[in-house]
Order: sequence, then structure tokens, then C-alpha cells
Amino acid sequence: MTPSPTALPDPDELLPDAPLVWAALQTAGWSAAALDHLLGVGARAHLDRDELAPLLRRTEGGSPLEVLARLFVLGTEVDLKQARKAGVPETWLVPDGYGVGAAVRLQPVVHGGVEVLVAHDPARAATRTRPEQVLGVGAASLTLAAATPRSRVGRTLDLGTGSGIQALLADDHSDRVVATDANPRAAAYTRLSAALAGRDVEARVGDLLEPVSGETYDLVVSNPPFVIGPGNGYVYRDAGLDGDELCRRLVAQVPSVLAPGGHAVLLANWLHVAGEDGDARVQSWFGEDVDGWVVQRELAAPEDYVTAWLRDTDEGDRFDELYDAWLDWFALRDVEAVAFGVLAVRQGGTGRVHLDDAPQPVAATWGEQVPAFFPRQDALDRGVLTRAWRLREDVRLHQVAQRTEEGWLADSQLLQQEAGLRWSGGVDVYGATLLAGCDGTRPLGDLLSVLASSAGISDDDAAEQVLPVVERLVQQGFLIP
Ligand SMILES: C[S@@+](CC[C@H](N)C(=O)[O-])C[C@H]1O[C@@H](n2cnc3c(N)ncnc32)[C@H](O)[C@@H]1O
Repeated sequence: MTPSPTALPDPDELLPDAPLVWAALQTAGWSAAALDHLLGVGARAHLDRDELAPLLRRTEGGSPLEVLARLFVLGTEVDLKQARKAGVPETWLVPDGYGVGAAVRLQPVVHGGVEVLVAHDPARAATRTRPEQVLGVGAASLTLAAATPRSRVGRTLDLGTGSGIQALLADDHSDRVVATDANPRAAAYTRLSAALAGRDVEARVGDLLEPVSGETYDLVVSNPPFVIGPGNGYVYRDAGLDGDELCRRLVAQVPSVLAPGGHAVLLANWLHVAGEDGDARVQSWFGEDVDGWVVQRELAAPEDYVTAWLRDTDEGDRFDELYDAWLDWFALRDVEAVAFGVLAVRQGGTGRVHLDDAPQPVAATWGEQVPAFFPRQDALDRGVLTRAWRLREDVRLHQVAQRTEEGWLADSQLLQQEAGLRWSGGVDVYGATLLAGCDGTRPLGDLLSVLASSAGISDDDAAEQVLPVVERLVQQGFLIP
């Protein structure tokens, strides 16, 4: 048994017995669905607030699954005999109260139909996070997972792997996955998570792209330590570089490890500074020989940004002091707002970077939009009128109608995507008619001529009015080549 329940565990020491733990989990019927059934769907919210009583009441029966849930999910003590009976090797146990606890936590995650198991350091909401602590899966992890393309690729790199969630998910659609992290404990956890489920991930330690220099990847994903501020020493979120320099560096350097046509998908924060265009700032990070797509999801006032991140690590009575120091730090740099978003890079391009402000709710997985976005841009370059565009399958038209003496009269119409970034927008009756004709067989110019004659205007006038709208509809993916 590991000596102290308060010392952070050494994941490398747990590696040899990972197959025994996996066997114990399988025998007990462990799965995300089984745990949801046992603990209830509100379990995560209870855990995030250290509310253990509801979960302890649901695991009183002493079955192997209940014992494993108490050890690895709730992080509470069980009787040593119960732990042994459930098949947990003693190397994975620590003394806890009158019984034993688990050295690590195990978090099952289901994403896009793929289930993975993530091992990470024990954590309690009431206990301050340690700088080198390796956390489980959080909101940002899932934001990146949602934005990751899932079509089959050869080689995938997960940079800043943490407990390995992105690497484990990528293993499902990649021939080979390499995961890197500056924190050796994170690389060790990724190895442990992969070993548990027999997944094939190679974890390396090192700064940014240094561990993979000279190699190329078809897909690079990264949820880097993007938080901007004076730095509180948390390795998982503070880069130790000034402002948004880490994200800038990553975007600038990532093409060096991208195979031709390869994609990188990164999370980032970037600053909006007084007297400077914040959109242009992030757009300037991309190199001349790539294409870029910035999907901005949030733009936060400094006060809101600081509050959110201080709550994330639950600083308790240090909140006031840290809040002031952080806001002073922003004020010194004339920071007016902090943007958050997904940055996508395609290797091979002309240095064009498109920015979408996309604060709307998006689909649970929208990564397929990344490789689809760039060819749409290419198609726009080759001419809009001569191409036979197709309305995307998931687009719906919603009408709001008023009853009149002649019956229902539609007074507004809304186009809505059911998938991807779930863009929506108003459309008039001519636009709706034009889009209905976009079935991929007739060039837009022909459809426009018909529309122009029915509206009694010239083809040129119709084109002048419609082309900017069509361009936006292509960029947002309503119309596809
Ligand atoms: C926000 S966590 C992301 C963890 C995980 N990939 C996820 O999506 O949940 C960022 C990770 O980057 C690592 N990191 C910090 N600085 C780094 C650097 N300079 N080079 C590589 N990794 C770094 C941290 O140790 C941490 O594990």
C-alpha cells in the first residue's frame, strides 16, 4: 500500500497491476451506463460539490460494483476485505480512516458513442488544487473533444494530454496516437489510463512540440494551459508565458508537425487590448502557408473571466487578494476582454483566416465541420454562380405565421441547422425559394435567373443582392459544394 493518503500517488507504480484492476472492473460490470444507473445521473454534480451522502446511500449494498464506485468514483473508504473481494490489488489502495481508499480516481467518459476510462489524481472541491495535480475531465476537455474531427486518420498528436482524455478518444479513429505533456505525472497518467483498457497510446514528456520535433501528424489536438493572467502556478492551466503568448506560439509552430492536408484543433484564449483589433490579433497568429478558422465561443469581461477561473480552483479566503492582483495585471496591459474559442489549422493554404463569432449552443459533436470548412472556402474561391450548391441535409426552415382572413400568413422564416455549429438566421421568401432549389444539380446562376425574372429584376441586380448572402451561407455550411 502507498504510505500516505494525502501524498499525490505515483501513477508509474500502479502500472504493473493495471490489468488486475481492469479485470476487477469488468467482473463487477463497470461501465458508464452501469455507474449512471447505480449513482444516478446527478452524481457528477454531487461530486463537484463534495456532497457524498446521496452517493453513499446508493452504494450501501456492498456489491463489487458498489465497492469499486466508492473507491474510484466517490473516493471514500471501504473495508479492506471488501476491496480484496472486489479484486482490487493492494498496490492500488491507501490507508484511509479505519479502512482503505483508492490511490487514484477513475472517470468513465462517453463521447460520440465511444467510452473511455480516465485515471487521475484524487481531488476534493474543498481541498485546494496542487500545482502538479493531474485533473480529470472538465468542461474545456469536452469542448475540445466536441470540436475534434473523428474521421479515420493515420497519426494523431495530443499535446498537453493531462490525464489523457483526448488521446484515448483519438485511439478509436487513429492508427497511432502520441500524447505529450510538460508534467511527467500527466504523461504517466495517460500511460496508466491507456494500459487499463488496453489502448495503444505512446506518452512522452516535454515542452510544447519539442518531444515530436521532426515528426508529422494528420491530426493534432490540444487543450493547452491557455489561461491568461499573472499565473498561480497550476501546471494544467498556467503556461508561465506572458499574456496569450503560449497560444500564439502553439498556433505558429503547429504547422511544423502537420502532414500535408493535416488538421490541428486547439483551444485558446486571446486578448482584446485597448486600441487593438482583437480579431486581427488572433488571425495574425496563423502562418502564411496554412488556412485557419477561428470559432470564437465566448468574449468575457476581465471581471467575469477572473471570477470564473478563481472559482475553478476554489481559492477560498484567498479569493479577494487574487482577484485584485489578477484585475490589476489586466489593467496594466489595457486588457478590455478575453476571448475563448476553437482554432482550426489546415496544413497547406494561403494564409487566409476566417473568424466566426459563434456563441450559440452547438451540437454535442461538431468536429466533422473542421475538415468540411476549408473545402467550402476553396469552392467559394472557384466561383459561386457556376457551382451547383446543395442544401445541407440537416437544415430546417421554421415559419412563424399569423392567422389572417386568407388563412395562415408566414411573417417570418428561420433557417436552422440541426447539426454542427447549429447556425440559424432569418430568410425571406425569395431566399427560401432559392435554397429549396439548391439540390446539387443546377448551377446557382441558373436558379438566380429564374428568381430574378419572377421578381421582375435583372440577373445582375439579383446577383448583387444575393451573392453576399450565399457566401455567408456557404461559410456557415448551409450550402455545401
Ligand atoms: C488544460 S490541461 C488539458 C488536459 C487534457 N488534454 C484535457 O483535455 O483535459 C493542459 C495540459 O497541458 C500541460 N502543459 C502545460 N504546459 C505545457 C507545455 N509547455 N508543454 C506541454 N504541455 C504543457 C499541463 O501539464 C496539462 O496537463
